[in-house]
Amino acid sequence: MRKRVTLVKYGISSGFRGEGEMDEDLLQKTVEIVRRAKRVVAFTGAGISVESGIPDFRGPSGLWEKFDPMEYATIEAFQANPKKVWGMLKEMAQLLDRSRPNAAHRALAHLEEMGLLSSVITQNIDDLHREAGSRRVIEFHGTSRNLVCMICGRIYDRRAVTLDTLPPRCACSGVLKPNFVFFGEPIPWGAHLEAKEEAGRCGVMLVIGTSAVVSPACDLPVLAKKQGAVIVEINLEETQLTRYISNWILTGPASEILSRIVGAVSEAIHCRSQAV
Ligand code: APR
Repeated sequence: MRKRVTLVKYGISSGFRGEGEMDEDLLQKTVEIVRRAKRVVAFTGAGISVESGIPDFRGPSGLWEKFDPMEYATIEAFQANPKKVWGMLKEMAQLLDRSRPNAAHRALAHLEEMGLLSSVITQNIDDLHREAGSRRVIEFHGTSRNLVCMICGRIYDRRAVTLDTLPPRCACSGVLKPNFVFFGEPIPWGAHLEAKEEAGRCGVMLVIGTSAVVSPACDLPVLAKKQGAVIVEINLEETQLTRYISNWILTGPASEILSRIVGAVSEAIHCRSQAV
């Protein structure tokens, strides 16, 4: 299935902008279900990395405000003019080199360490979940860690390739492309299968920092919901999922909310072990 934008009309309200009052009861409810669930999965988008200094895509200062995705993010655009697209990719690469995981990434890694989080399914290509220590990360849109030759398929570690001359080229003279999915390209087969499996058997899905407008990624919370999972959104504002798919939304910055959830969960586990 190819990556594309879907604007399914869920009759979303005109958006809930800015900082919302986070509902303490809902936060406690989230702590309880995360503690008790057999399998918790996190599904993340660009919003989780905003506090690491990486802009999201569709926000007021998102990447697509600066670069038209039809000119810079489709495989056709890349094949037609790789030098132009590499102009944007070089800027992104420099930003990724400067960015580090934030408290939200670390909270998920901690939840996995406690044996409560089964996997992170991420749309992000920034590698920050792995850098934060998460072990089971399903990279649904691929990764920026390496580049692939469009002709011979050879893979290069991105940091081993200089970007002085654009587009960078393979020893076979083929153009090198980041090993992530452009619009119009298929989702990596293995990641797609694994993500569907995880969504198909989780008890709780934490949907963090995604506008859920890009498919087939945005179908994963729907799949999880259909098989009975509780869907908890963490976002600065309501999304397409909020009204019909999510059980509830915790509005606010991901780093603050996830740190509080994981802090409360580990405290509860600690207290219980003391009581025994
Ligand atoms: N904490 C929580 N949520 C946040 C934060 C934050 N600090 N900052 C932004 N958000 C939310 C925004 O409100 C928005 O709903 O994150 C979401 C980001 O949405 P998009 O920019 O659309 O990014 P994403 O959903 O990841 O995009 C999906 O589209 O362009 C493609 O391939 C790209 O993987 C990407 C896909």
